[in-house]
This record gives sequence, structure tokens and C-alpha cells, in this order.
Amino acid sequence: MQLLDGRALCKKIEVQVTADVKMLKKKCGCTPGLAVILVGQDPASAAYVNMKKKACDRVGIYSITHDMPENISQKAIEKIIKNMNKDSTIDGILIQLPLPKQIDERKLLDLVSPKKDVDGFHPFNIGCLTAGLDGFVPCTPLGVMKLLSEYNIDVKGKNCVVVGASNIVGKPMASLLLNANATVEICHIFTDDLKKHTLNADIVLVGVGIINLITEDMIKPDTVIIDIGVSRTKEGKLVGDVDFLNVSKKCSYITPSPGGVGPMTIAMLLSNTLKAAKINAQEKK
Ligand code: GUN
Repeated sequence: MQLLDGRALCKKIEVQVTADVKMLKKKCGCTPGLAVILVGQDPASAAYVNMKKKACDRVGIYSITHDMPENISQKAIEKIIKNMNKDSTIDGILIQLPLPKQIDERKLLDLVSPKKDVDGFHPFNIGCLTAGLDGFVPCTPLGVMKLLSEYNIDVKGKNCVVVGASNIVGKPMASLLLNANATVEICHIFTDDLKKHTLNADIVLVGVGIINLITEDMIKPDTVIIDIGVSRTKEGKLVGDVDFLNVSKKCSYITPSPGGVGPMTIAMLLSNTLKAAKINAQEKK
């Protein structure tokens, strides 16, 4: 079994992004800028936003966080997004999810300019991904593809079983795999017999937030395991969706969680923000 080390690859990508940011500054005087919208007090969201901000600092991307109270109105957030869309110092806009119940999430995501949509959640970019066209791709599934490619794991013709059908992870993950010529199944909460599907998989990609959902009896030997889940146990330890101890004895490759896909999500946010800044710099010429 070999570990797919997201932390190591993230460091490598950060070195490249840092060099590219420097080059962009030298060539056109532009500093890539990311605006993050954080609503409410969810500790996990605040921690993720903090990690994203620190990563921006490390590579020389300017970032600003709009930290808003839990009871903020829809209109107030919309106003900030509209301002960020017009702000030439901002290349990327990220709305940290989930949002409080009174907020219409879809309406906000639709308001972000597709050119600044570094999370790839706007319908325009979802459409580009589905059609196999260039656009912004959600950071977590994009990070999984980079990690697979770093370890020369070719998905072409492989049976890939994606467990979880969210708009953020499962659906874009399936589209990326399909675009790379994999055979793709998506399993979800209503799937009848999950094990029947995972036993047939060459690659299992799971991101649902259920501790120990994937056990060693559910996979065939030498499967590649991508654990996208992150949960906290009662004892406060961070773990994924896979019974790592037992599954790791049977599989060929596995991502640890934490330390696998999580760092890749942040690396891809940096890379998407750089991509947006490069496009904007080109258009300013
Ligand atoms: N919440 C959980 N994952 C994500 C993500 O990738 N992007 C945003 N904006 N919010 C999230």
C-alpha cells in the first residue's frame, strides 16, 4: 500500500504558484486577489477560511475576508458580492459554505461573476465542466485529480465509484472522472446496496462525512481509495469516511484523512485564483 500524500503535493504546488505570482507581478504589476465571504460562527468554516487565508499569504496572493454575523440579510451579502464583482483588485470570490438557513445559497452563488468563480459553483462553470470545456472546477475534486495524476494513477477505462452526490464534491468529481474517460458510478444516500457497487470498483472516492462507512470487506484487493470525508470523533480526533487501519492493508493506494485531499483543496483554490488573475491581466491589456 502506498499513501497519497496531499500535504507533500500541496507544498510542491505552492512553490509553483509562488513563482507564478511573482512573475505576474513583474510582468504586469498585478497581485492576484481573493475575497472570502464567511457568514456566522461555525467553527469548522472559520478554521477552513483561516487556512485559506494563511495559504494565500504564503504564496503572495492578496486576500480579504468579509466576516459577517449569523443574522445578516440576504440583501447585505448580495451587495458585497456585487461590489466584489466590480472590484478590479479582486480576481476570485469564494462564499464559504454552508450558509445560515435564512440565506438563499443558490441565489448568492449565481450572483458571483463566472470569471471570478474560483470555487466553480456558478451554473456557467458547472456547465463548462459537464461539457468538458475550460472553466473553473471545484477545488476538492480538482485536487483529487491532481493527486491521482501525481502518482501516475490513470483513471481511463477504470471502474470508479463515487460515494456522495453533492454539488461541491460528488457530482463534479464524477464529471472530471468521466471527462478523463473513466467508467463512473455515483452512489448516494438512496443507493440500495453500497457494497455491491464498491466491490466492483478499481477506484473508490468517498466524501459523505460518515465515519468508517467504507470497510475492508467492501473493496476488492488493490483498489485505490480516495477518502474525501473529514469528521471529528467523540474524542475530538479528525478522521475520514474510510476505516483506514483495515482498508489500508488491502488497497494499493490510499489518501490519509487528514493529510490527503484536504490540503489539495487549498492548493487548488490558490491555483484557481492565479488562473483568474492571469485571465484578468490578459483582458486588461
Ligand atoms: N464548504 C465545504 N467545502 C467547501 C468548498 O470547497 N468551498 C466552499 N466555498 N465552501 C465549502
